[in-house]
Amino acid sequence: MAINEPATRPENPRFSSGPCAKPPTFDVTKLSDAPLGRSHRAAVGKARLKAAIEGTREILGIPADYKIGIVPASDTGAVEMAMWNLLGARKVEMLAWESFGAGWVTDAVKQLKLDAQVKTADYGQIVDLSTVDTDNDVVFTWNGTTSGVRVPDGDWIKADRTGLTICDATSAAFAQVLPWDKLDVTTFSWQKVLGGEAAHGMIVLSPRAVERLESYTPAWPLPKIFRLTKGGKLIEGIFEGATINTPSMLAVEDYLLALDWARSVGGLEGLIARANANTKAVADFVEMHDWIDFLAHDPATMSNTSVCLTFTDARVKDGAAFAKDIAKRLDTEGVAYDIGAYRDAPAGLRIWCGGTVETSDVVALMPWVEWAFETEIAALSETV
Ligand SMILES: Cc1ncc(COP(=O)(O)O)c(C=O)c1O
Repeated sequence: MAINEPATRPENPRFSSGPCAKPPTFDVTKLSDAPLGRSHRAAVGKARLKAAIEGTREILGIPADYKIGIVPASDTGAVEMAMWNLLGARKVEMLAWESFGAGWVTDAVKQLKLDAQVKTADYGQIVDLSTVDTDNDVVFTWNGTTSGVRVPDGDWIKADRTGLTICDATSAAFAQVLPWDKLDVTTFSWQKVLGGEAAHGMIVLSPRAVERLESYTPAWPLPKIFRLTKGGKLIEGIFEGATINTPSMLAVEDYLLALDWARSVGGLEGLIARANANTKAVADFVEMHDWIDFLAHDPATMSNTSVCLTFTDARVKDGAAFAKDIAKRLDTEGVAYDIGAYRDAPAGLRIWCGGTVETSDVVALMPWVEWAFETEIAALSETV
């Protein structure tokens, strides 16, 4: 039986969780002012890098006494730079509830060989944050991109903590409120919520993180690409646009354009509202259908960016194959690209709901998910 296709298609089928959709107003010709073929250390290049740093501070409301640096190797580079520079000074707690957090656990335990206390939760759940002692150094992911589970708030982090909080916020920054007074190191990449280009990461340091950097030398060697201090002092230039190595000025220009767009939609508040509206469009659909559910168990921890869904219909026996077929069908139809669950995550769909996605596109997508589901279910019964 052929299931009728919905009448409306998303105008933009890009729902990938990274690189994420470019801002709706994006046009590559708008990058023509990029100082290409010029040194990033010339005044013109440095000014663009500084503007990227200060634009980030403005939109995210980062305190004036926090340092913001543009670093190599995207969010991964920024997180590992933080771990390699700062850990080892005191006890460490590693928190993980999905794939990326698990990767930072591997770094701490297997690579740095730290005797870390590891706290994990299954996909869809979150670690019991009330058990975390922030007098230890704590490494965690604010928004678990592969499970769609996020930290609800920073209340579990003590204001007078003696440890450092190291937070991978790559799929949270520009979509969720980050309590800067509770975060000592925060990292994210341009390719996520603002739909920028890959390869560049950002690291935000609190005064206490800087103090640690200037008072502690780790036992292991640090490659040049990770070094944030020289002679026991912070390399201030990194936080003023003098990057460690050569950045892409095209990617910088693209990020500046994304920041302009963020301003045009009302800054952080506007971005959060857009992400929430997108997530609500998915939630309204889930509410009306009993064969699909969120991977996140608790609404308080449900992501408004990487929204992860599972199929709960009892007729589905091979969940992984079923979800894969649905994602493929939607891709082939050109209505949704890249929405299969992450390779290490439970089978299902992951629909990016960050602010660069238009709510009208999420609304248009959901009947297509139903169409693909019904078509696959019909195909199942045909093969029995
Ligand atoms: C939570 C989280 N951490 C780290 C990464 C790695 O980011 P990047 O590829 O920008 O280094 C990702 C990418 O999706 C992520 O979602």
